[in-house]
Amino acid sequence: MATWRSMALLFLFLHLLPLAAMADKDAFVGFNIGTALSDMPSPTQVVALLKAQKIFHVRLYDADQAMLLALSGTGIRVTVSVPNQQLLAIGQSNSTAANWVARNILTHVPATNITAISVGSEVLTAIPNAAPVLVSALKFIHAALVAARLDSHIKVSTAHSSSIILDSFPPSQAFFNRTWDPVMIPLLEFLQSTKSYLMLNVYPYYDYIQSRDAIPLDYALFRPLPPNKEAVDSNTLLHYTNVFDAIVDAAYFSMSYLNFTNIPIVVTESGWPSKGDSNEPDATLDNANTYNSNLIKHVINNTGTPKHPGVAVSTFIYELYNEDARSGVVSEKNWGLFDGNGRPIYVLHLTGSGTMLANDTTNQTYCVARDGVDRKMLQAALDWACGPGKVDCSAMVQGAPCYEPDTVAAHATYAFDAYYHRMVMAEGTCDFNGVATVTTTDPSHGSCIFPGSNGSNGTFINGTSLAPSSNSTSGSLSTFNESNSVSFLRLIVVLLLSGVFL
Ligand SMILES: *[C@@H]1O[C@H](CO)[C@@H](O)[C@H](O)[C@H]1NC(C)=O
Ligand SMILES: *[C@@H]1O[C@H](CO)[C@@H](O)[C@H](O)[C@H]1NC(C)=O
Ligand SMILES: *[C@@H]1O[C@H](CO)[C@@H](O)[C@H](O)[C@H]1NC(C)=O
Ligand SMILES: *[C@@H]1O[C@H](CO)[C@@H](O)[C@H](O)[C@H]1NC(C)=O
Ligand SMILES: *[C@@H]1O[C@H](CO)[C@@H](O)[C@H](O)[C@H]1NC(C)=O
Ligand SMILES: *[C@@H]1O[C@H](CO)[C@@H](O)[C@H](O)[C@H]1NC(C)=O
Ligand SMILES: *[C@@H]1O[C@H](CO)[C@@H](O)[C@H](O)[C@H]1NC(C)=O
Ligand SMILES: *[C@@H]1O[C@H](CO)[C@@H](O)[C@H](O)[C@H]1NC(C)=O
Ligand SMILES: *[C@@H]1O[C@H](CO)[C@@H](O)[C@H](O)[C@H]1NC(C)=O
Ligand SMILES: *[C@@H]1O[C@H](CO)[C@@H](O)[C@H](O)[C@H]1NC(C)=O
Ligand SMILES: *[C@@H]1O[C@H](CO)[C@@H](O)[C@H](O)[C@H]1NC(C)=O
Ligand SMILES: *[C@@H]1O[C@H](CO)[C@@H](O)[C@H](O)[C@H]1NC(C)=O
Repeated sequence: MATWRSMALLFLFLHLLPLAAMADKDAFVGFNIGTALSDMPSPTQVVALLKAQKIFHVRLYDADQAMLLALSGTGIRVTVSVPNQQLLAIGQSNSTAANWVARNILTHVPATNITAISVGSEVLTAIPNAAPVLVSALKFIHAALVAARLDSHIKVSTAHSSSIILDSFPPSQAFFNRTWDPVMIPLLEFLQSTKSYLMLNVYPYYDYIQSRDAIPLDYALFRPLPPNKEAVDSNTLLHYTNVFDAIVDAAYFSMSYLNFTNIPIVVTESGWPSKGDSNEPDATLDNANTYNSNLIKHVINNTGTPKHPGVAVSTFIYELYNEDARSGVVSEKNWGLFDGNGRPIYVLHLTGSGTMLANDTTNQTYCVARDGVDRKMLQAALDWACGPGKVDCSAMVQGAPCYEPDTVAAHATYAFDAYYHRMVMAEGTCDFNGVATVTTTDPSHGSCIFPGSNGSNGTFINGTSLAPSSNSTSGSLSTFNESNSVSFLRLIVVLLLSGVFL
């Protein structure tokens, strides 16, 4: 066992070196912008939302002229795509590829900061008939960039479905479906020689669903697991605390199986739907919020993966908008963080993770009780906030800093403001049946410092809480059910040992 461990460590050490150069680069979180909305916002409106939410990286599924123009001068980094239906033509003719680059790239740079081209999307699984020309398509696009001296600035790659990875648990035994070796080997050679990266779509949601409860929900949602219950890769002794890392490491191992050990990974899609039909009980606001909040924290912390700790795995969230015009099951229309009017579907819990997705224009506002409203309604709202609303109302008990003045209005103001700031000042979270209103005047007095005031940033409750738009009192999902999870986790360990997982 000791030999195994040191061999595993040596193995790890050797494999860490080539990617070490990547470690000093910070990982970013970007957003995919799908456009299947019945009322698609104009490019100007899209860019306004990106700016308000401090989103600096986006991926488009095409190279839309108006969108690229609207993005010019913003400094926002853009990954554009060659749509699948154009792939065959481009992969068969270098002049068609050169024309595509001239029309869609050269006209926009440098004003628009195009940093990557995704040539096709999930080609091997979505349009396998085009697979034979995939690498040619990448090479032709790259050649056109070289001719324009843009190749060092714009990376060329192609987004893969993670379903091309087989036997993905334990990650150390994963490999790309051998059927695609004739494509994957020259593709990886291309990525390596052009210092590009592997683009991978990572959906723990689908892995969780397809596992039929073999994967615990907490494990898919990055919820903490007790250390002794984490999934362990018996070959490498690496501990896996979430499905996302396991899939990304499976991709690293699949590449090293083909002897490529220095190609970084960018996750081009990952997310969780916030709504589904009766057959999709896990597509909920709470799960979507938990997954995306935890994913963002995980990525921007530069956590890396167990195989490559600290190596950036930049990730594009799927997706910016709910695409209500998409066909298919209900969840298909509900992967977005915003509706077509730019209103958040839910408010991410990103405390301590910087300012991304903070609505700058609502900075420094407070939620207070309205003057002259019905006292009973005020009391009811206060009771709701301190109860189902989960506000920490301990600052208002006798002897605490905000006990005085001991009036319903003063106490309600404190509770409303605490709730409002816990919801990151999202629209509609300062209403309370009309008895509350937003103000820019800090209601703090004496030693009673209000949430959102200087020095204080709210009474955040651990675990998840729903955005109030759903107005649910669901606290049950945020409760870690010890007895359930322990048995799930036992199951997972058994599955790991027997190699049947994911
Ligand atoms: C464009 O993006 C690249 C890569 O992130 C960055 O280094 C560069 O500063 C950006 N340029 C502008 C003008 O924002
Ligand atoms: C296409 O390839 C041919 C043969 O390699 C080469 O002569 C030609 O210059 C290329 N055309 C473009 C537009 O790159
Ligand atoms: C590998 O890919 C081929 C071609 O798409 C597919 O027919 C086959 O089922 C895949 N193998 C597995 C185990 O998924
Ligand atoms: C990887 O390298 C090893 C050792 O050099 C070699 O035996 C093996 O055939 C290579 N695998 C591939 C897929 O090239
Ligand atoms: C952030 O990274 C550190 C190590 O660099 C790690 O210990 C910590 O768990 C990470 N936090 C999150 C939220 O991933
Ligand atoms: C940001 O704040 C402005 C002003 O309050 C509001 O109109 C807008 O809807 C907010 N946007 C989001 C995404 O919350
Ligand atoms: C919250 O307030 C504390 C104390 O002022 C500060 O150190 C911390 O950075 C703040 N956190 C956020 C997310 O603003
Ligand atoms: C928002 O508030 C923070 C903390 O009070 C401050 O540092 C920042 O400058 C403010 N941003 C704007 C745009 O007012
Ligand atoms: C709860 O929902 C009701 C009606 O659905 C709404 O009037 C009320 O304002 C909501 N409460 C909060 C705190 O948002
Ligand atoms: C925050 O505190 C600083 C000094 O502690 C003070 O100068 C500033 O005016 C305060 N800002 C607000 C919005 O209260
Ligand atoms: C939140 O969780 C952290 C770590 O699990 C703990 O240290 C902290 O006391 C908790 N805070 C509250 C308010 O429960
Ligand atoms: C936890 O799960 C067990 C077994 O499913 C159940 O009996 C118990 O009521 C649950 N506890 C909570 C707090 O949900």
